[in-house]
Amino acid sequence: MGRHTDGHNSQVADFSILVLEKALLVSCQQYIYIYIFSEQQLSAIHESYSVQPPRPHQESTREELEKITTASSLEENNMFSIRSSSSISRALLARSFVMREFCAQRKESKLEGKVALITGAARGIGKETATKFITNGAKVVIADIRRDVGQETARQLGANASFVACDVSQESDVSNAVDYTVSTHGQLDIMYNNAGIACRTPPSVVDLDLAAFDKVVSINVRGAVAGIKHASRVMIPRQAGCILCTASVTGMMGGLAQHTYSITKSSVIGMVKSVAAELCKHGIRVNCISPFAIPTAFALEEMQDYFPGLDAGALADMVHNAGVLKGANCEPSDVANAALYLASDDAKYISGHNLVVDGGFTSIKSLNFAGT
Ligand SMILES: NC(=O)c1ccc[n+]([C@@H]2O[C@H](COP(=O)([O-])OP(=O)(O)OC[C@H]3O[C@@H](n4cnc5c(N)ncnc54)[C@H](O)[C@@H]3O)[C@@H](O)[C@H]2O)c1
Repeated sequence: MGRHTDGHNSQVADFSILVLEKALLVSCQQYIYIYIFSEQQLSAIHESYSVQPPRPHQESTREELEKITTASSLEENNMFSIRSSSSISRALLARSFVMREFCAQRKESKLEGKVALITGAARGIGKETATKFITNGAKVVIADIRRDVGQETARQLGANASFVACDVSQESDVSNAVDYTVSTHGQLDIMYNNAGIACRTPPSVVDLDLAAFDKVVSINVRGAVAGIKHASRVMIPRQAGCILCTASVTGMMGGLAQHTYSITKSSVIGMVKSVAAELCKHGIRVNCISPFAIPTAFALEEMQDYFPGLDAGALADMVHNAGVLKGANCEPSDVANAALYLASDDAKYISGHNLVVDGGFTSIKSLNFAGT
């Protein structure tokens, strides 16, 4: 406990300070102030004291925590203030941090100080991921063939986003995007090869259009390979880095998309394993994400060819209804969350992995017996 004198009205208030694992908690009269440390501050604290701050001990029930969180709270940068009452103990509040009851209200910072380059981030899954990365403390370079949309997205995402024009089928564009990232931010920590296109050619293999095949391969496969190549060029000297690619459930099972598209996405899953085998000795992790169908512009534009009479809402419903997990739909944010996890230190020992975001779709084949 300490004593605090307010210079203006000479009031003397009791206060106490508790250093938690990730926060400083100050209780003063009827208020409890909580300051959440940034990742940088945390490492500075750990360095100065060379020990972890103490963990709080007291257990608390969910009902008790709900009582606290319904009390008025406000967030300003990393500071919360909560009006306390005699029934709320500091230790109880401290425990609520451990239970992460406040995580939804505070800024996450899993990528503090990291620099990411995301291809195909002008819209859709890439844009969602760029947004997620930035709210987690990263600086993001958006590389996309759509110049106007990409520039507008970067403007919307603010000072920590920038845009570089890039057609991933052109190796020089990919190389330039990597160099732009390094010259602007001094490093590249996360390379996310997300750009991809659908294939709108006749479905039968007999009619396969090999010119269209080459075009889709040049973006979905060659573009990702170029991204891996040029990211490795700058990551190997630092002996660190994270490379991500967007694959798809259509690359894991037959029959979910046209051959050309499925083949390209199978290749992405294979390329990740092949390259992870080499890059692991440089401390670089390589993973991919295989999402289920998501009604982004990409999927809707393709479906419009098959169902020209249906509007976007009806097409989105069709996509969502194809999923197997009741009560949830696959959304860009689900892929962004998977990408955040793989890019963060939470996944520090995960490499060569295909993280499937499909609500169980590719793991399930039902016999459909009546009543089951
Ligand atoms: N939406 C889905 O159902 C779904 C499911 C599984 C996987 N995917 C994959 O997710 C990734 C993103 O898809 P999305 O749904 O967000 O689509 P989207 O069309 O909304 O976004 C794709 C982005 O890639 C960009 N792009 C296209 N060609 C490019 C090129 N040559 N160079 C650089 N950028 C280029 C586009 O301009 C666009 O901004 C793709 O790889 C796609 O194959 C999508």
